[in-house]
Amino acid sequence: MTLRGVVRPPGDKSISHRALLLGALARGPSEITGILAGEDVKSTARVLRQLGADISPVREGSRVTVRPPSRLTRPASQLYCGNSGTTTRLLMGILAGQRFAARLTGDASLRRRPMRRVTEPLRAMGAHIEEEAGDALPLVIRGGKLHAFDYTSPVASAQVKSALLLAAFTGNVRLRLTEPHRSRDHTERLFVHLGLNLRERNGVIVFEPPDRPTACPPFSLAVPGDASSAAFLVAAALLAQAGELLIENVGVNPTRTGFLVVLERMGARVERLNLRDAGGEPVADLLVRPAARLSATEVTAAEIPALVDEVPILAVLASRAGGGGETVFHDVGELRVKESDRLELVAANLRAVGVEAEARGNDLHVRGTERAPRGRVETARDHRLAMAFAVLGTLPAADVRLSERKSVAISYPGFFKDLKTMNDGRRGTRGG
Ligand code: S3P
Repeated sequence: MTLRGVVRPPGDKSISHRALLLGALARGPSEITGILAGEDVKSTARVLRQLGADISPVREGSRVTVRPPSRLTRPASQLYCGNSGTTTRLLMGILAGQRFAARLTGDASLRRRPMRRVTEPLRAMGAHIEEEAGDALPLVIRGGKLHAFDYTSPVASAQVKSALLLAAFTGNVRLRLTEPHRSRDHTERLFVHLGLNLRERNGVIVFEPPDRPTACPPFSLAVPGDASSAAFLVAAALLAQAGELLIENVGVNPTRTGFLVVLERMGARVERLNLRDAGGEPVADLLVRPAARLSATEVTAAEIPALVDEVPILAVLASRAGGGGETVFHDVGELRVKESDRLELVAANLRAVGVEAEARGNDLHVRGTERAPRGRVETARDHRLAMAFAVLGTLPAADVRLSERKSVAISYPGFFKDLKTMNDGRRGTRGG
């Protein structure tokens, strides 16, 4: 099948959350363009409104205005964070230094995800947190007086790191933080862009509060396209038979583009054109041509944080590696605590469509095949599983049936429309 034209992925989910959160803490109104109008970002907007921020509707293509309250106020009811781990964990950082209590909860998937990775260090900073369900939501966070903190995080998690940075910022205390491998650095870049005192040296991140507590300045921010959403388009283009695809306005922050590095190693070529800056983040247009052949590879533990959300789609591409080669993703245990158990489900779903794949301990093994994928895929309402297997379904003679496809609204509401536009006439994916 032949690829056609130009697509633009939706706004970056991580940056959209951070822009809303910092907008709600600023000294005056901020303007955000290019924001992702996905369900997770809407969850962040909703809970911030409950805390007193005035935020205009988060809609595709609209300019969003965030009018912060003079100080955040106690919510009248519990804060429902939907499916969004980023909303929950970053918000906990902001609530840690407030003078009121708030109860946080979420949907069934979110209520299964670990929270102590954030609550433990926040407690050590001085926050009061009551667990209702052990290492999970719901929980009640009561602000406290925070103090300077030096932390070595056991997980490479941008959500943990960002929660602590937001706590240090709102609590006006010093933070010194180290992580085992570098995770996405959008919070650090936004802090620096807004003139906050943050520096990073030899892997140590240091935030120094200003002498007098001040809110951050109001800002205007253009959110770049989401590299993680673009990854599905890149993959679909690599699996096509002819033509080329231009994916415009993609954030190419190196802490997010590990999948491009791995794809290069697998033999794919993705050109970055028109490299530019948007609010402290690098942005480019990606030109993708179908890959004549993909080869198997090893993805190391150190590479995982920069592609953690791309393992499902990379595993799908690895299932197409020539010569029956085996790809191994090392140390991807974190995938077990994402929106679903992605480690088990990626392997089980690949097997369901005729691919040899297995989760062994914390590693994921996938063997390449040329057989057309056929079978039913259980997405467990996980947006990235739905999109990864929908891409597999674009192969000639594929018959991939998804258990549902609505979950794409979490991060990429226009996904199926874009997939259709870029390769009209291809067949293969069905699902309710
Ligand atoms: C995110 C960080 C990552 C990622 C998630 C978004 C963020 O999670 O998987 O989709 O915006 O900070 P972890 O920090 O838990 O690895």
